[in-house]
Amino acid sequence: MAYETVIVETRGNVGLITLNRPQALNALNSTVLKELKQAFADFHDNEAIGAIVLTGSERAFAAGADIKEMQPLQFADMYKAEFISGWDEIAKARKPVIAAVSGFALGGGCELAMMCDFIIASDTAKFGQPEITLGVIPGMGGSQRLTRMVGKSKAMDMVLTGRMMDAAEAERAGLVSRVVAPERLLDEALAAADKIASLSQPSVLMAKEAVNRALETTLEEGLRFERRLFHSLFATEDQKEGMAAFIEKRKPAFKHR
Ligand code: CAA
Repeated sequence: MAYETVIVETRGNVGLITLNRPQALNALNSTVLKELKQAFADFHDNEAIGAIVLTGSERAFAAGADIKEMQPLQFADMYKAEFISGWDEIAKARKPVIAAVSGFALGGGCELAMMCDFIIASDTAKFGQPEITLGVIPGMGGSQRLTRMVGKSKAMDMVLTGRMMDAAEAERAGLVSRVVAPERLLDEALAAADKIASLSQPSVLMAKEAVNRALETTLEEGLRFERRLFHSLFATEDQKEGMAAFIEKRKPAFKHR
């Protein structure tokens, strides 16, 4: 497929998607969503791909949902089309997705970064949920995911005032996992993705499922779920290989089965 708003590449066993609407600071419109869904589906179907990196430009990861596209829409249009629900597909990607964020990650841009499994930020990154300044509220999960990630007080502060937080504050708050210099951002994210892609895919997919379950269920259920997944990995060839390789002091040769 020829893409207009994203650049889709592979780097070894890593899928790399770069948001590419520089004239609109990568604002997320319906074309971006359609193309991202396609790129994610292709990487999902490609067995060689073990992890995905999603990035933007140095100036902006994404400055939000496209305000120009949304401005004329009426309640009935949005309600009937279940506007924005398509983004759930991105959030439900089974393979690990790392957001590499430089510059603005605002509104839907911050929400898209939070749909990824973790965020690596450059020290120029600025996160925010400024929807309140437009007379609306976050619509792609900001009030829910941000609250789970940084707690009620900071989420309320961000969502009610619309202020931005810089990379250092985002790291302190637990929104991002690492902060690096802008010129290191992509290499750092690709190296992390490459490491994940080198591991046994069944265990990687289950690890992602298990961590995500922690956000959705009680501790007791979560522990039971984790334990069952842990047990089930003993049915894989890769568990035998991974543990044998440790004992024999060699690198494992995972077959992803
Ligand atoms: N939608 C559409 N276009 C956008 C945009 C957006 N979210 N953000 C920036 N742009 C466009 C600007 O309109 C401008 O285009 P023109 O040159 O054609 O006027 C271009 O990108 C560059 O932007 P600025 O000139 O504003 O750049 P700046 O450096 O002065 O400011 C900024 C940068 C602070 C990020 C500012 O652009 C801004 O505040 N953007 C909007 C941020 C925002 O409110 N995001 C939330 C959107 S609503 C949402 O996301 C809802 C949801 O939860 C689903």
